[in-house]
Amino acid sequence: MKNKMKLVALSIVVSALFINVPEANSQTTSSVNSLNSKYDVEIDKLISEMTIEEKIGMLHGNSMFSTGGVKRLGIPELKMADGPLGVREEISRNSWAPAGLTNDFATYYPAAGALAATWNPHLAYMFGNSVGQELRARDKDMLLSPAINIVRTPLGGRTYEYLTEDPFLNKKMAVQIVEGLQKNDVMACVKHFAANNQETNRDFVDVQMDERTLREIYLPAFEAVVKDAKAYSIMGAYNKFRGEYLCENDYMLNKILRNEWGFKGVVVSDWAAVHSTVKSLKSGLDIEMGTPKPFNEFFLADKLIAAVKAGEISEAEINEHVKRILHVLYQVKAMGSNTNSRIKGSIATEAHYQDAYKIASESVVLLKNENKALPLKLDAVKSIAVIGNNAIKKNALGGFGAGVKTKREITPLEGLKNRLPNSIKINFAEGYLERYEDKKKGKLGDITLNGPVTIDQLDPVKLQEAIDAAKNSDVAIVFAGSNRDYETEASDRRSLKLPFGQEELIKKILEVNPRTIVVMIGGAPFDIDEIGKKSSALVWSWFNGSEGGNALADVLLGNINPSGKLPWTMPKNINESPAHATNSFPGGKTVTYAEGILVGYRWFDTKKIEPLYPFGYGLSYTNFSIAHLTTDKKSYKKNETIHIKFSIKNTGDRYGAEVAQLYVSQPVCSVLRPAKELKAFEKVFLQAGETKTVEMNVKVSDLAFYDEVKKAWNVEAGDFILQLGNSSRNISQTLKISVR
Ligand code: BGC
Repeated sequence: MKNKMKLVALSIVVSALFINVPEANSQTTSSVNSLNSKYDVEIDKLISEMTIEEKIGMLHGNSMFSTGGVKRLGIPELKMADGPLGVREEISRNSWAPAGLTNDFATYYPAAGALAATWNPHLAYMFGNSVGQELRARDKDMLLSPAINIVRTPLGGRTYEYLTEDPFLNKKMAVQIVEGLQKNDVMACVKHFAANNQETNRDFVDVQMDERTLREIYLPAFEAVVKDAKAYSIMGAYNKFRGEYLCENDYMLNKILRNEWGFKGVVVSDWAAVHSTVKSLKSGLDIEMGTPKPFNEFFLADKLIAAVKAGEISEAEINEHVKRILHVLYQVKAMGSNTNSRIKGSIATEAHYQDAYKIASESVVLLKNENKALPLKLDAVKSIAVIGNNAIKKNALGGFGAGVKTKREITPLEGLKNRLPNSIKINFAEGYLERYEDKKKGKLGDITLNGPVTIDQLDPVKLQEAIDAAKNSDVAIVFAGSNRDYETEASDRRSLKLPFGQEELIKKILEVNPRTIVVMIGGAPFDIDEIGKKSSALVWSWFNGSEGGNALADVLLGNINPSGKLPWTMPKNINESPAHATNSFPGGKTVTYAEGILVGYRWFDTKKIEPLYPFGYGLSYTNFSIAHLTTDKKSYKKNETIHIKFSIKNTGDRYGAEVAQLYVSQPVCSVLRPAKELKAFEKVFLQAGETKTVEMNVKVSDLAFYDEVKKAWNVEAGDFILQLGNSSRNISQTLKISVR
């Protein structure tokens, strides 16, 4: 929490795996977008009885995480909690200090990157539902989640909090999270709207991009949560977009979000992201939230009362904003006649820990597995060296971002202890120390806008202990990567380099024990080229929740067959990554997204640059073959749907899951089109030897590009190539169709 205070200061200045999961709910929750609300009469009556001070009290924070209510009229405070990793611990009303409660322990869920790596929308729904129940158990109304900004640069400090670099995967997962969440009588506050893709200069940087890029890459998931999942609220981001702060951006909030998409919910500012009074309100903001200062000094507090009194803004306009807030409070049963039937929820239950386990177990990505080094065969193994600070590092809390206070966080070492037979001796050695340059404190602290500076010299004693452990054990497992102090909100990383001298450590361990498995724990790409070449087995895990260590041990030991797929591209070199290759990160006062629509694999594939590990990549302990790709027709009209069929077979000898990924390209078009774009995917669970027929539907209209001239989506007639595979770079079937 101290960390968060620093940030504030700064920003002011500048089955097991395969068991059944609930079906994703295709029916949406009651629609906040419906124009004729059954609550309108009650709401109008309430508004007619409110003073201007009471109305404006609802438009700004009256504590760190709530807005004012009107007790005499039965209007409650609107209570919020942070959310991407689970429901955040209770914060004091007037400062970032923890409230010190004993009933705010929650389940720590895998970070969003992990959830995206499952490529399983059912799990996204399950996650939303699970965390929604926890939110209710804490008697909150709004979860500040999901965070769905596009991963534009691998260095982004919040990459772990976001889902992916791909707009389609983003939207498929985000919609399910919001639906699962909101069915619990709570509001999702989807953040950070929009084009908030870097931490560097986030308080003022002016993001510039062309309209096509905005529409094709940065907006689709936001549009989908509004239109398909009926999200009740949206959080305006810190930065500027085309010259205007996002919390006072008429184009984004009024024209796109409300007028085009029909959003009827509330727009909440990010914390201390508001810069004006009348302009913010007129541009579409409803609620100003912020950081400690007298709450009446907020832009939408006393200043707004004065503005109404001075006739700069009408009371009728204030009423519109109050109406929206009352509307969502009714929708989630926070007020009105049916508050008694509001879901009560439950928190930190075994069932929720198991939800976290399921996500974690499907998120682990097997990057390399030479000579079937994994799963570990324990027959002749008497001892295992477990090496690395990450074997014992906890990540529920850490860094500047919102975390979770939890009673359960199984570390990788604990997971192995839980799962290995007692007969196997574990030789643990910390190996490297998590150390940062900080002249003043000698530990974590020197978090500048350019990210933490790590101390990369290995401690000789720790190194020797690790070498000895590896030498004296039949197998060695090194747990490296990063943690939530290193990858953090408020700064982007300085490079892709592994911190704390890990690369040297891993190489030394590999020299003394060739049976070494390397496990990376992190939320964003790292330079693991050398390590990948030298080790026979390489596994990617995440900030993976309360049960992360158990899930990881289950993967290493083969109780779970890995099925995670990378939700972003791992570049060989940061300079090959689009924002860096185009020299358009981080910019200064302005950042221009020069790569345009070519974000992530769209760049690598179109420019024919070999990534280290491609988007959608991940191995299994079994093998799959995808065959017989067919479509119902060869030629389609623009309003038709392409019905696709193919078969997928588990050709190996153990149960597993494969993610079939369908990409589409249009080789000849009047505008640049990426070499491929994800248009459908399906995670298929198969017994050994089993074959399934899979059907996918893609609307021809979904093959459109955003036409800057027509200011509309446009499908240009011509040939399209369907590319089906198990990663963006492993396409096993292609088929040409035409659109006329
Ligand atoms: C973050 C938001 C978060 C808010 C409240 C801000 O610094 O950008 O994601 O919800 O703080 O903690």
